[in-house]
Amino acid sequence: MKSDPKAADSKANSSQYSLPENIPTHVAIIMDGNGRWARARGLPRLAGHRAGVENIRQVIRAANDYGIKYLTIYAFSTENWSRPKGEVQALMSILEEVIDTETDELHRKGVQIRHIGQQDQLSPILKKKLRNAIELTKDNINLILIVAWNYGGRDEIIHAIKGMMADGIKPEEVSQDIFGRYLYTAGCPDPDLIIRTSGELRVSNFLIWQGAYSEYYVTDTYWPDFKPEELRKALVEYAQRERRFGRVGNTTPG
Ligand code: IPE
Ligand code: IPE
Ligand code: MG
Repeated sequence: MKSDPKAADSKANSSQYSLPENIPTHVAIIMDGNGRWARARGLPRLAGHRAGVENIRQVIRAANDYGIKYLTIYAFSTENWSRPKGEVQALMSILEEVIDTETDELHRKGVQIRHIGQQDQLSPILKKKLRNAIELTKDNINLILIVAWNYGGRDEIIHAIKGMMADGIKPEEVSQDIFGRYLYTAGCPDPDLIIRTSGELRVSNFLIWQGAYSEYYVTDTYWPDFKPEELRKALVEYAQRERRFGRVGNTTPG
């Protein structure tokens, strides 16, 4: 699976990936590989996280330009609490900082910020900043940016079940539609395309309900090097896929 990420980059940097017509409505990204990006340069992991944040800015702009309507970014999982305390604290501080520095600009561009994940375990100040950013941008419609922070698919499912039980939903009333309304992603279409950077072939607890029929695209490129050109490459590949949803497709032999 591992090939030279630099080789992948130079291929993506050629201009062969012009934008296809069939743009997915919802793209979700598992932004992985910050630590390895840093290690490859002899830098501390934190430098990788900082470079990763810089890259998010470019990718959000590109997603907006390309006509993607929903962009979900997986930035901190429920399992990431098991990392060294210093790294967890640094990641929390980076999110605070990013909210401070980026919210106004995103608001100006018509980006709506949403959050999926548990907010309870976040510090009061981070919670407040997150909620303010969500409130400020709630009427924007150009791009819905869904930040998966302290997010885990299993946690989300348990949270939804608890919500249904608290509302007294009867077993015979439970349906996929009702259940979907109790997920953090209520009201969002399922992701059409899930991208994972840094070559790992696993889901890592990301959108395990919503991704049931998503198309997957994995690149060896580490997240800080995943540039708009490479997003276009993923979109080109997506446009060539035949989504069958269990049915017989056009290219299935008859
Ligand atoms: C992704 O990069 C960012 C987070 C999970 C917070 P990693 O930190 O997982 O980088 P690698 O996988 O160790 O290279
Ligand atoms: C997935 O990356 C989570 C995020 C990108 C936030 P991880 O680096 O945490 O995943 P594993 O541990 O390699 O599965
Ligand atoms: Mg990782």
